Amino acid sequence: MNIEDIRKNFPVTKNLIYLDNAAVAPVHSLTKKYMDEYMEHFLNFGLKDYAKWVDMMDLTREKLAKFINAKVYEIAFVKNTSAGLSIIANGIDFKQGENIIIPDIEFPSNVYPWLNLQRKGVETKFLKADKNGFLDYKNLEELIDKNTRLISISWIEFVNGFKNDLKAISQIIKNKSNEFDKKIYFCVDGIQGLGALKFDINDYDIDFIVADGHKWLLTIEGAGFMYCSEKVLDNVHPVSVGWKTVKDALNFTKINFDIRQGADKFEEGSMNVAGITSIAASMDLFAQYGMDFVEERVLGLSAYAINLFEEKGFNVVSCKEDKHRSGIVSFTTPDVEEDFLKLVSNNVQLSKRGANLRISPHFYNTKEEISKLAEILT
Ligand SMILES: Cc1ncc(COP(=O)(O)O)c(C=O)c1O
Repeated sequence: MNIEDIRKNFPVTKNLIYLDNAAVAPVHSLTKKYMDEYMEHFLNFGLKDYAKWVDMMDLTREKLAKFINAKVYEIAFVKNTSAGLSIIANGIDFKQGENIIIPDIEFPSNVYPWLNLQRKGVETKFLKADKNGFLDYKNLEELIDKNTRLISISWIEFVNGFKNDLKAISQIIKNKSNEFDKKIYFCVDGIQGLGALKFDINDYDIDFIVADGHKWLLTIEGAGFMYCSEKVLDNVHPVSVGWKTVKDALNFTKINFDIRQGADKFEEGSMNVAGITSIAASMDLFAQYGMDFVEERVLGLSAYAINLFEEKGFNVVSCKEDKHRSGIVSFTTPDVEEDFLKLVSNNVQLSKRGANLRISPHFYNTKEEISKLAEILT
């Protein structure tokens, strides 16, 4: 696969060294093509032949299911990660005295939906990261007690790119569920991994995974999806409901509150057709290149960045162990503030998170771009 051909799909590469896919990624040419088609249709024909867009959404749900190897009825479109996690938090019948565990380095989207249950007397317990910002699952084992009902964790931690070992966590949760003879749910915020790294839902015992598309999945903002395992679909009540929640949704003049059985019961009303069009475009792009190739490039580029930054004397704060490595590389320099401004004024797009500079190269980036960043700083 020729990188120059790939980069033609990403016109942003002509303007910027874009190393900020963990914040908001640029869109690609296929997205523009699909969305132009959608706009042209509504500009010229409005609702006529709407079935075409219903088919497009059905097909996109199938593509998403295939992308993570789930079943089609386990996929719901959601507004964003926060909304998906809130559906789960509000839909499970948490009882007073129960608790939820999350790491203390999570992005607020995976914190506030759980803290919002305080009013019901549900406690959120924090799994402390060590001084390096890494997680030790032995501490998770100790934190789970007989009142624990759910663990929610990012696949990849946003601040330093620490890739959580979802297999090890699945196993701990399974053992604890057996020990306490109760179901403990496993919920994953997948936004910093999906689209960058390969993912097969069948490799884990995960009940829920949620992600918006605007990072590694390369969609426009506000177009996300949620996976809800068929094993627990009945345990999550749709809290926000509307005409589309029910089985006979198109029979507007007949009220029959018979809730759908699939994850689409969480889609209460009119859909974000534009956003789903954008998801379709990204699914087609990833299918074209294959996630083996995408992952190899992402991890190759982050490894290159780690080695180069260390050579240059920057302090890499991301975990360097392969099993905890992702597409995010966080590092510090003697003057983070000044260096950030220097990079931005040299058309390098990156982020500052906490006290760190953070880069997040995707498969369309190159080693040369990372070298250029290092050159600007030395
Ligand atoms: C781990 C994580 N979750 C969620 C989000 C974004 O949440 P939402 O999709 O609700 O905007 C981010 C954005 O930085 C993130 O890093």
